[in-house]
Amino acid sequence: MGRVEGKVAIVTGGASGLGAADSRLLASEGASVVLTDVDVAGGEALAAEIGAEFVHQDVGEEESWPALVDHVVDRYGGLDVLVNNAGIAVIADVSRTTTEIWRRTLRVHLDGTFFGCRAALPAMKARGGGSIINMSSTAALVGISPYFAYSAAKGGIRSLTKSLAVYCKERRNGIRCNSVHPGSIDTPMVEAALEGLQDVRLSEQPDREAARTAMGLGEPDDVAYSVLYLASDESKHVNGAELVIDNADTVV
Ligand SMILES: NC(=O)c1ccc[n+]([C@@H]2O[C@H](COP(=O)([O-])OP(=O)(O)OC[C@H]3O[C@@H](n4cnc5c(N)ncnc54)[C@H](O)[C@@H]3O)[C@@H](O)[C@H]2O)c1
Repeated sequence: MGRVEGKVAIVTGGASGLGAADSRLLASEGASVVLTDVDVAGGEALAAEIGAEFVHQDVGEEESWPALVDHVVDRYGGLDVLVNNAGIAVIADVSRTTTEIWRRTLRVHLDGTFFGCRAALPAMKARGGGSIINMSSTAALVGISPYFAYSAAKGGIRSLTKSLAVYCKERRNGIRCNSVHPGSIDTPMVEAALEGLQDVRLSEQPDREAARTAMGLGEPDDVAYSVLYLASDESKHVNGAELVIDNADTVV
């Protein structure tokens, strides 16, 4: 208990799946958690359950970021942790990726992560340091044909994380930035993928349960514990790292 006692954390996409697990675990370990999402009902319900605050936010909306960070600093006295987790996954290989799918995907993942990092830096610097945790994916590390735009966005998140880590080290501002790369984890996003991928990747599986087993799904807490570690001072020398959580699915 208390691994992030006294820290102030923002978790985007906190209403569901991995963001919900991150929020729950950070709150139970002593952090003040502000979770944001476009899903108002889900976000408010979880915030009430775990003693967090919910803020309605579309992470791709540039103006939402300074307002969010200012609010958090005003109300909680500072910002220590930002988990850029919000995401969407549209199943479309290159031939089916419309310009609209491409832009929508990059807007949430890449724009959202960039806006979040940029807005958090001054607040964390004023605090003497902080931890930015960017949710990437194993899709950033290996080719996954049905997730063309998603893979590109996650690859971008991996790269911007490393550049930001070096930037912070050069300035000795105490801020660390790391990326987390889950494989397939049992969340609503993957549930939807199981539907969509039936005829693409898992067509040889007789039913949903067989497809689940074939995917070897992890649990949201498998990822949340890595977020907790990166948010805590236990990882004070970890900066620019990519933490893969996939039970060796992408080991080469
Ligand atoms: N579940 C997996 O297997 C897996 C694997 C690798 C990476 N990821 C990444 O983890 C993150 C969370 O995924 P998940 O599986 O929990 O999915 P999820 O669909 O359960 O949750 C995503 C949350 O993000 C929110 N969201 C979507 N667009 C938003 C926006 N513009 N602004 C604010 N919130 C927004 C959704 O409302 C939802 O609550 C995503 O970035 C995803 O790409 C998931």
